[in-house]
Amino acid sequence: MPYTVPKLTDFSVAALDNAVRELLSAIQKEKEVLVSEASEPSVASSTKTTGLKVFRDRWLARKNGIVTQITEFWLKVAPPDAKREVGQRVNAVKAEVERYVAETQQRVEFFARQSAAALESVSRVDTDLQALRREATRSELERGRLDITLPGIRRPIGAEHPVIKTMNEIVGVFRNLGYSVEEGPEIETDYYNFEALNFPPNHPARDTQDTLFIAGQESKELRDRLLLRTHTSPVQIRTMQKMKPPVRVVCPGKVHRNDALDATHSPIFHQVEGLAVDTNITFCDLKGTLDHAMKALFGSSVKTRFYPSFFPFTEPSADVQISCIFCDGKGKRDGAACRNCKASGWIELLGCGMVDPNVYGFVDYDATKVSGFAFGMGVERIAILKYGVDDIQLFFQGDVRFLEQFG
Ligand code: DAH
Repeated sequence: MPYTVPKLTDFSVAALDNAVRELLSAIQKEKEVLVSEASEPSVASSTKTTGLKVFRDRWLARKNGIVTQITEFWLKVAPPDAKREVGQRVNAVKAEVERYVAETQQRVEFFARQSAAALESVSRVDTDLQALRREATRSELERGRLDITLPGIRRPIGAEHPVIKTMNEIVGVFRNLGYSVEEGPEIETDYYNFEALNFPPNHPARDTQDTLFIAGQESKELRDRLLLRTHTSPVQIRTMQKMKPPVRVVCPGKVHRNDALDATHSPIFHQVEGLAVDTNITFCDLKGTLDHAMKALFGSSVKTRFYPSFFPFTEPSADVQISCIFCDGKGKRDGAACRNCKASGWIELLGCGMVDPNVYGFVDYDATKVSGFAFGMGVERIAILKYGVDDIQLFFQGDVRFLEQFG
């Protein structure tokens, strides 16, 4: 409710003081509201000055302003013996109101000037900018430099990374055979990376994979200690824990080894693992599957050879070799010894074997009822052969000139 001047009937000192207090507190509040509205930069300066005028007229207008009204309603109607007290107060109120109005005016005008200046400088910058643009376009046109028929700015789209591209291709070959895809963590426990794959603690087979261990794990039991997985084979275990046979999965992923960098070694690389477990799976199935996969990846004229090997989690185990794709398996190219296969005519490509019955013991599969095979291949190695890359480091250096060739 906005303040209105009460008509006084009680002219005691207390009643007078009370009326004065209410009036002054009303003007104080109105002043605060007005100043706070005026301080908003987004409010136009004209709105601010209009508000100020309404405020001044409400309190000080000769005709019917609040100060005029108190002379009317308080002083004129006061009984003769109260006139002195009332008169003093009316004069004091008048002076106070004038002071409030003057202060308010000062503050509001200050804010109004600020808004006006801001507006002016914005429009000045805008005009300057337009003038500059006109000037630039005119002089470009005059000098014949602006060729509006030129094509726009091309945004280059990336190319699939050759390692990912090769990995997808390998996975694609097995998906076409009905395999599904499984993934596992890159930070593994000793149990999944080694123990459940039939690498017992301290067994020398562990030395074939230079392992990067996570520090500060000594207080844990060996099987729970963390490391960076050295191969994708732990996903075999995780998969068999999750599902019952028949199982046919491929597991692509990143692996780590504490190997020094050179043209064929990198501490980070990628593998695709495979696992098939069912009733009556034989070594013959393994040979047929991998022979098909190598032909799908390197061309139908490629031959495969299975060479006895050892892995703790397969028995028997083999290394798969393909006939050299550079010399067609002849061992000789242009009359000289083929360097890619060291004149042997064969290139070693992946490891495989029949799943060792001990492994089934770790995942609660019945080794007397099921059999299966597994294999694991290095993605970079396959990419190097497919694309004729001579240094594995090129895959990880991020040089666009190299990478864009695979787009
Ligand atoms: N995990 C082996 C490695 O990284 C590769 C491998 C060999 C995987 C034989 C297999 C396998 O599944 O059966 O050296």
